[in-house]
Amino acid sequence: MNTTLSDAPLTQIPCEILVIGVSKEHLQDALSPLGSLGADLITAAEEEEFQGNEGESLLFPSYGRLPAGRVVLVGRGEGSMAELMSAAGTAGYLARERGASTVAISLGQGITAAQIHQSFLEGNYRFDQYKQSKPTKPPTETLIVVGADLGDMDTAKAVSAGQFFARDMVNEPAAALYPESMATLAQGLASDQITVDIWDEERIRAAGMGGIIGVGQGSARPPRLIHCHYRPKTPAKKTLGLVGKGVTFDAGGLSIKPSSGMLTMRCDMGGGATVLGVMRAIRDIQPDVEVHAFVGAVENMTGGNAMKLGDILSMYNGKRVEVHNTDAEGRLVMADCLALASEIGVDQVVDVATLTGACVVALGEDYAGLFTEANDLAGAILDSADHAGEGVWRMPLHQRYKKKLKAEWGDIKNLGDRWGGAITAALFLSEFVDGPEWAHLDIAGPAFHESKHRHYASGATGTLVATLTHWIANS
Ligand code: BES
Ligand code: MN
Ligand code: ZN
Repeated sequence: MNTTLSDAPLTQIPCEILVIGVSKEHLQDALSPLGSLGADLITAAEEEEFQGNEGESLLFPSYGRLPAGRVVLVGRGEGSMAELMSAAGTAGYLARERGASTVAISLGQGITAAQIHQSFLEGNYRFDQYKQSKPTKPPTETLIVVGADLGDMDTAKAVSAGQFFARDMVNEPAAALYPESMATLAQGLASDQITVDIWDEERIRAAGMGGIIGVGQGSARPPRLIHCHYRPKTPAKKTLGLVGKGVTFDAGGLSIKPSSGMLTMRCDMGGGATVLGVMRAIRDIQPDVEVHAFVGAVENMTGGNAMKLGDILSMYNGKRVEVHNTDAEGRLVMADCLALASEIGVDQVVDVATLTGACVVALGEDYAGLFTEANDLAGAILDSADHAGEGVWRMPLHQRYKKKLKAEWGDIKNLGDRWGGAITAALFLSEFVDGPEWAHLDIAGPAFHESKHRHYASGATGTLVATLTHWIANS
């Protein structure tokens, strides 16, 4: 999609849809530039009880009174950056529903054209590869942003490309997207600054990564460990690590999930997809920090060789894990990757995982849980999330709950009790980090939606690609 700037009056922009950001108090200011049609729209919006809240929208035909075919009002809310980004996303969603190829958008102060471009595309995205009979309408080709500063368009385009890359990967059914094929997609990220090293099953086993091997051994699809390494052209200020959960399908293993909970479990590599999406973005942005990204790609199935309850896994850092539930597999995979990132010696490591249903119970679908003891790192991630308009909420990581993971035979078990499941999962991971500052992001809520949610079409969201790219670019 091509985004251009314009300062032309709204009455002189030919387009299929003209989008105007309005708040309840400023209906008059926002719509008076449309002349007599504006006056009619104000009356209509009041009759429709349009509140101008985040996500709210109203669509009107222009009856030939403007060069625009239709006018869409989108709510500005209180005018915060997150609300304005939602407004742009809503515009992108509606434009795609109608197959509008040229859209003009005027949201007022507080958001740049670059941010509008990125959010608009979040709403414009669809995954329609498998539709035969009823194809989705085509994406928007031209976005004309009226009355805004340009902002950092190169970064916005890089982030969008990373988000699309991540979303396509997650949306792909598990029959097509399995550890090996995920690794092949990661190999496509290689550049003169990015090397991609794929570990096969034998190398993972020989290295002693009992977590990845244990989870993967019930599947006909062998695991892979994806290691992407980005080097800046100038000496690096620091070295950052990213770790993503790449469970390409989570059937639960022998602790098998009920059918209803299994349907969407191709989303369980969402953290890995986010990490690879970030690498896709920084390939273009070229920040001056070094980045190591690790994805443990593995399928959690029930095959004849599947790991059993009571098995004791010997992990990459030497700790022994007692398996009490094979559906708590993500932490086993992440543990080996975090131990490897620790060994490589990054300064800070952030992991991203669709780790627990408990986190969704705690925070709902719109917030990732952030778990860390490093307050500076927490602050940097929360600032980046604000900038990106993504929801991240800090959760406690209290040592007090660690006793819930006490094992009878091994060093630690992979299951806590009924309560605080997102926290005990995070505490489990902390046992495998040694050296770097570490933060854990549980994205089980925002990674994937079964049906349309906010401005996101059903399926993957590419959550935190924007946040983590911003964090890296500003580290
Ligand atoms: N992949 C799931 C978590 C999940 C739930 C992701 C909902 C996305 C949406 C994870 O592997 C899992 O099964 N977790 C269990 C842990 C439990 C067995 C301790 C859970 O949350 O129920
Ligand atoms: Mn599971
Ligand atoms: Zn899982």
